[in-house]
Amino acid sequence: MKYKAVKLVKRPDIYITPDLFETVTLETPELEGGQILLKQTHMSLDPAMKGWMMEDRNSYIPPVELGEVMRSSGVAEVVESKNDEYSVGDRVVGMIGWTEYAVSTGSGLQKLPAGVDAEAVLCVLSLPGLTAYKGLMGIGKPRAGETLVVSGAAGSVGSIVGQLGKAEGLRVVGTAGTDEKCRWLEEELGFDKAINYKSDNLEKQLLEATPDGVDVYFENTGGEVQHITYNRMNAHGRVVVCGMIADYNTDRPSPGPNWINMIRRRLTVQGFAMPDHWDEVPAMMEKLSAYLMTGKLKYRSHKLSGLESAIEGINLLFTGGNTGKLMVEL
Ligand SMILES: NC(=O)c1ccc[n+]([C@@H]2O[C@H](COP(=O)([O-])OP(=O)(O)OC[C@H]3O[C@@H](n4cnc5c(N)ncnc54)[C@H](OP(=O)(O)O)[C@@H]3O)[C@@H](O)[C@H]2O)c1
Repeated sequence: MKYKAVKLVKRPDIYITPDLFETVTLETPELEGGQILLKQTHMSLDPAMKGWMMEDRNSYIPPVELGEVMRSSGVAEVVESKNDEYSVGDRVVGMIGWTEYAVSTGSGLQKLPAGVDAEAVLCVLSLPGLTAYKGLMGIGKPRAGETLVVSGAAGSVGSIVGQLGKAEGLRVVGTAGTDEKCRWLEEELGFDKAINYKSDNLEKQLLEATPDGVDVYFENTGGEVQHITYNRMNAHGRVVVCGMIADYNTDRPSPGPNWINMIRRRLTVQGFAMPDHWDEVPAMMEKLSAYLMTGKLKYRSHKLSGLESAIEGINLLFTGGNTGKLMVEL
């Protein structure tokens, strides 16, 4: 059977452009003992992919090599099996790549319980939810009554961070790039305040929204929000450095805030990357599933259609064009 896959053939200069990719038509091979054939149904698109395309060999994960199928996580169904642990019809989540079909031994895959929705898996029970949970609970160490500011608040990670914050009894303030996203955060997700960071008087709005200062800042974007919030931190505040998307498409990283307030306010500023914490995944999944089942976590997905829609579609993450977890339905 023939299928399509998309390979990375060139590294980005600044932007992700279509010439970085080549679509190839491949044929599914005869399976060997221990192998399974996967048909991918939902493929995740993530800001981190920009980093994986770059030549940086000193990051938390090696780059995708040129000529390799582009790396991504996804949900797939087993359509053929020569592996006793997998039956046809089983569904799995794992690193599958920009491809319609893939052969696997099952290594690194997680089986999904029957009935679990693929969108819920990509929106909550995989990278976004795990990152939000690890970052907020493990590093942010929130306490009821404290104030949390989260940037990129309407995105996959940020929207879960804010909801977890509310569930933990915090005052939650989010920043996002459109009024519609801000309305969704306040009206549907229960944020105390959502601020459009592209509107006027951002500093005044953030100061008014945080009358008692900021105890936890969950950083997804960088930019002006970072500077304002950093200078608003209370003593012993925690800054969780998850992402800096405002800097992903620039050739010159923007200057960070001055470290003097780190001393004066005795702040903890910690960067983290989920791949360091895979051993904690089962425990975190249990917590996230409980929040999901009790209606404490809402999500929305932004679905593109067909494998090659990823090539242009990934840029929605960098323009703010995505409304919810960006994924490709295959
Ligand atoms: N450390 C980790 O292990 C880890 C894991 C997953 C994700 N992350 C990071 O977490 C962040 C969010 O990722 P996600 O998957 O949840 O993506 P997402 O928020 O669903 O999508 C990206 C969003 O970033 C915002 N954005 C784009 N350019 C921006 C800019 N110049 N300034 C401010 N906001 C901008 C856009 O929303 P607006 O409309 O609001 O601008 C866009 O919708 C990213 O920085 C990502 O790299 C880190």
